[in-house]
Amino acid sequence: MSAPVTVVAHPNIALVKYWGKRDAALNLPAAGSLSVTLGPMHTRTTVSFGHAGDDRFVLNDVVATGREAAKLTAFVERIRAHLPGLGALHMTSTNDFPTAAGLASSSSGFAALALATSQAAALPLTPSELSELARLGSGSAARSIFGGLVRMDPGQLADGSDAVASPVDVPVDQLRVLVAVTVRGAKEVASTDGMNHTMETSPFYRAWIDTVAPAIDEAIAALRADDWDKLSMVCEASALQMHASAIAAVPGVLYWRGATVELIHAVRRQRAAGMPVFLTIDAGPHVKVFTRASHENAVAAWLRDVPGVLEVLHAAPAPGAVVVP
Ligand code: PMV
Repeated sequence: MSAPVTVVAHPNIALVKYWGKRDAALNLPAAGSLSVTLGPMHTRTTVSFGHAGDDRFVLNDVVATGREAAKLTAFVERIRAHLPGLGALHMTSTNDFPTAAGLASSSSGFAALALATSQAAALPLTPSELSELARLGSGSAARSIFGGLVRMDPGQLADGSDAVASPVDVPVDQLRVLVAVTVRGAKEVASTDGMNHTMETSPFYRAWIDTVAPAIDEAIAALRADDWDKLSMVCEASALQMHASAIAAVPGVLYWRGATVELIHAVRRQRAAGMPVFLTIDAGPHVKVFTRASHENAVAAWLRDVPGVLEVLHAAPAPGAVVVP
């Protein structure tokens, strides 16, 4: 058995969203995206190779089966393709936040697995190659290899070697994210299914994709200039345009609940009252509210009072995936 390797990785949240693939098998995004890696929430994953029998994946104390296990084994096959003879993998992985509920657990999960498996297999990969490997598990995971502000490039090559993330040298340490949790339990439509269905049936899909590249440039410029109003406008629009394209699919993909809509109105009211806040929503019903560090507690206090909010999680920019003792 290879020595066990443990990795900690953080999820990330997109300021400019990824929603649509140019290649399903290689998980190549149809457009870029821009994200912030967030802690303290994290995934901790330990792996070792050289076991007899089949791969074994334990996620939050439950052995993975079915589609989940098949996806994980397909991922590990990419490592074994480089180094046959590694044997079966044993993995244990825990998230200290809800899994598959639109809180980006796949981003930290596959970033952690990419780094852990490559280290356990003694496969030397550059950060860019690690990002490419993580992307094969989940598009957003390519971004969680890096900390802080991260840009995903859609690339152009058919093999996907240029569809990787890279860090953007703009400080984001004063950003805070408050996650307003609205529903307990896993989401109903996995992001891959939701985006494929949007691509196939939404008349707004092309229009959505065309918004992405300019939004990334505008958001980076706004962060660099510390222009909060511009940042709010660009990023909130990206989230709503992504959801508009999904809602326009046939039948529509709707991740929102009543509390999600209440939160959209509440954020608008707070912004009109002068609070530095804007929102984003991923493939789930929760609303993530960006604010400045100076306003974190005030924003959290009023979010807790919005009807339907079960819990408010605090998050701040975090580093990329790392091997830990
Ligand atoms: O890569 P996935 O399957 O986790 O898809 C991520 C999709 C969104 O979270 C909705 C947007 C994003 O860019 O993170």
